[in-house]
Formats: sequence, structure tokens, C-alpha cells
Amino acid sequence: MTLRRYHAPVWDEPIIMEMGAPGRRGQHFPRVEGGASRVPAALRRANPPALPENSEPDVLRHYLRLSQETMGMIGISLFGTCTMKYNPRRGEQSAMRREIAGVHPAQHPDTIQGLLAAVHGMEEALRALSGMDGFTFQPAGGADAAYTQACITRAWHASRGEAGQRTEIITSIQSHPCNPATAATAGFDVITLPLGPNGYPELDALRAAVSSKTAALMINNPDDMGVYNPEIDEWVRIVKAAGGLAFYDHANFNGVMTKIRARDLGFDACMFMLHKTFGVSKGGGGPAVGAYGCSAELLPFLPGPRVVRAEDRFTLEDGSVDAPKVREYLGNLHQVFKAYAWVRAMGVEGLSEASDMSVLLNNYMEKRLLEVRGVTRSHPDMPGWRLEMTRFSMEKLFEETGVSALDVQNRMGDFGIDAFWLSHEPWIVPQPFTPEAGEMWSREDVDYWIDVLAHVVDEAYRDPEMVKTGPHNQVVKPLAPRNLDDPAIGSTTWAAHQRKNARA
Ligand SMILES: Cc1ncc(COP(=O)(O)O)c(C=O)c1O
Repeated sequence: MTLRRYHAPVWDEPIIMEMGAPGRRGQHFPRVEGGASRVPAALRRANPPALPENSEPDVLRHYLRLSQETMGMIGISLFGTCTMKYNPRRGEQSAMRREIAGVHPAQHPDTIQGLLAAVHGMEEALRALSGMDGFTFQPAGGADAAYTQACITRAWHASRGEAGQRTEIITSIQSHPCNPATAATAGFDVITLPLGPNGYPELDALRAAVSSKTAALMINNPDDMGVYNPEIDEWVRIVKAAGGLAFYDHANFNGVMTKIRARDLGFDACMFMLHKTFGVSKGGGGPAVGAYGCSAELLPFLPGPRVVRAEDRFTLEDGSVDAPKVREYLGNLHQVFKAYAWVRAMGVEGLSEASDMSVLLNNYMEKRLLEVRGVTRSHPDMPGWRLEMTRFSMEKLFEETGVSALDVQNRMGDFGIDAFWLSHEPWIVPQPFTPEAGEMWSREDVDYWIDVLAHVVDEAYRDPEMVKTGPHNQVVKPLAPRNLDDPAIGSTTWAAHQRKNARA
């Protein structure tokens, strides 16, 4: 396949705080009679805010240039372990309707019956997909839903007089870091099980870890390597027999959607990410939703408010006393609305087909990628298919050329490929990468992605420096991770940058 030529526009664009000139305006407002004296003295600013002063065309041009400097949706984005999906325009448009976008978070439920009906509809869809008895849409992402689980675990054991005794949460090394992290934040000791030869922890390791101290199991399946643990129902049985709760992290639901149900496997609770599986936009806990569902026994512990149906009306029910809220107001209901539009448009058959497609495309991709020199997959001898993603390794390539998986990822950006995910920490597979096509990319797109990877790998053997110094056609050169992580170097806001400079 011919590789496409791509070059990002590069502007020497200043940041908006450094643009403009005193007195320059986008809008002129009439002077208010009495001016600032009409504002109560206690509320008046001592100094005017440090805002840039710009004309409207300058502002428009500035943001247009910035938008040209991002790759946005023009690249092929096979972002594994997070199931990044296209966000259909239909969902975005329907959520922009005045009746949805204009809702005030403190509005009376009687005035937002349509929105509440959609939220309730989404809950019904998730109940059908999981077998759980109820859901809350309060958590603003997967990690937040995992934290909700840890808090509910604590409250549930306390209600049975076992708070002091149930101190341990069991998880696996291949679970997302938010599982052990939220368990620890909620005050539990974490037991992390290593993987066995088949790519998932062995039953004997679980048996050895379980005791009268076990509060819960937090596990994903398939995990972030696409490995499905076929003994999962036995895992749940062992944990529950010891008096613990079993929680299913369904971040990787795409590969098993409509095929299995968490409750049928015995789980007490689960979470779905609407911003992953259900076609809603993603982004750092802001617009995300971690839908948390549980059995009837745990319903009294859910944070609220929850939408409840009383005949033909929808009302809001407060959260439990133990975990009353994990987010402001109603949560990100616009996202729930979009996810509902997505689910209704897909229908049950569509959901099932999407799952099949994602597994099929991944296994096609796996076959082709393993033909590329220097590429292997984790647990090469493990029998059976990976589901909707596979964790690959460029260890061999790294040893033979000094080119890392991150170098390859950076260089692929020069050919219109969006950065993909390598692996969550800890990296138990050396030089990992984890592409995931899901159901939305065509075979041509996937073939192109693999052709680019093969080209860059070939380049790595011929001219490693070319790959190591990439990307060459992008706005920025490779970022040193330290620049992102070290607060002494980077600032996330202008005010923080100013403070740092003042101190320096
Ligand atoms: C298995 C798993 N669980 C939880 C999370 C956390 O989800 P979020 O990014 O919505 O907080 C992720 C994110 O990648 C994940 O892969």
C-alpha cells in the first residue's frame, strides 16, 4: 500500500495570554452607571483580572491555528486498552438540543422528564447487558467507579459488623492501576496476584490469597492484554465463599458485549465506561461516565441521585448515607444521553455484531502484525484467541536496533497515525504496544496502520536514527516524559507558570 504523505502545519503561535495590547477589544459594552461602586465593597476586586486584551479576529485566527496543529480525527487511531470509539454526530447533535444542553443541574425533576427518561432507558440497557439490579451514573470515569466500588465495599462490610475484619482487596498485576489505587485510597490493603503461564493468575494463587480478611475482588476480564480468564466463575465462587464481594471492571467489555453477563458469572457489581464501549467522548474524568451497577443487596449503598421510575413519572432518589455522592449534582447526564442514543441506534443485534467485529478485526491484525520482523506477542504459547486487543512486544526490535516501542509510535505519527497506547504500568511485557481496532475501522484502515508500522520497523533496521528522532513532520518533536511529569518544568495553567517564574 502506498503510504500517505502528511505534514502538520507549524505555526510559531504564542499563547493567548501573551497576545494583544491594552485596550484592544472584541466587544464594546456600554458603561454601567455608577460603575464598580454598584458592586458591594466586599465583593469588589482590588486589582483587575490579568486577562489578555484581543480583537475578535485575532482570537479566531489564534484558535484556528491551534486547531490546525492537532492531528484530531484525521489520523487512524487504534488506541488499545481504552476502546476509543468514534463519537457519532447523531449523539452529539441530539445532546446539543436546547432541552438537553440548556438543562440547569439544579432543575426540578418535573421539568426534565425527557432527559430522565433517557437516563432511565440507559440504565435498563445496562441492566439487560449485565444482569445487575440497578446502576448509578454518578462516577465521572472508570477510576471514579472503581473508587465507588471500594467505598461501597467498606460500607457493606461495616453494615454487617465486619469493617475491622475485612481489610484486604485482591486484584491482579494485569488489572488497571486504578483498581489497586482506589482500594488503597479507601483504606484497604491490596493483594496483587501475578500472572500464570496462561496469561492470567492461577486459581491456587487466588486460593492462597483469600481469607476471612478478604473484603473484595476487583478484576477485569478480558484484561488489558485481551486475555480472557475462562475460570472466572470459579474465581467469583471462591471469593464469595470467603465472604468477599466480587467486582467486575468492564473496561474491556467490547470483546464480550452481549456474550456474557457479570451477574450470571456471580459478580456482585460491575462498571461500564460509557466513554469507551458506548461511543461517548473520552477525556480525563471530565466528560466521562463510569456507570456502576450492582445486585439488589448493594443498591442501598449506591451514591445518588439516581433516576427512579414511579409509574409514568421519573424522580430523583438520594444516595446512601455511607456513600452519598461521588460527583456534583446529577453527574455527566449529557454523556448518558449520548450513550443512550448510541445504544438505541445499535440495537441488540448491532451490539452483538460490534463485539464480533472487534474480535475478528483484532485477530486479523494479530496475524498480520506477527509477520512483521521484530514483533512478538505476550504469552506466545498461550492457547486460544485474544479477544478485542492483543499486547504485542517490540523487545526483539529494541535489542537488535536500539529503537523502542515509543520511538516507533512517534515516527508513525509522520504517516497520519495517531499515538496508540503502549501499556499500563507496570510494563510486564517489555517494549509493549496494544492497538485496538474495535468495530469502527475498516480493513483498509487497519491494513494501512500495519503497513506504516512495517515500514517504520524496516526503517529502524536500516536507519535507526531516523526513527529515534521522529516525528519529523509534526508540530512538536518527541516530548521528554520528564517535561510532562516534573512540576518544576511544566505548568498546567498560566497562573502557575507566572508564580513559578516569579519564584525563580
Ligand atoms: C481495565 C481498565 N479499568 C479502568 C480504567 C480507568 O478508566 P478511566 O480512564 O475512565 O478512569 C481503564 C482505563 O484505561 C482500564 O483500561
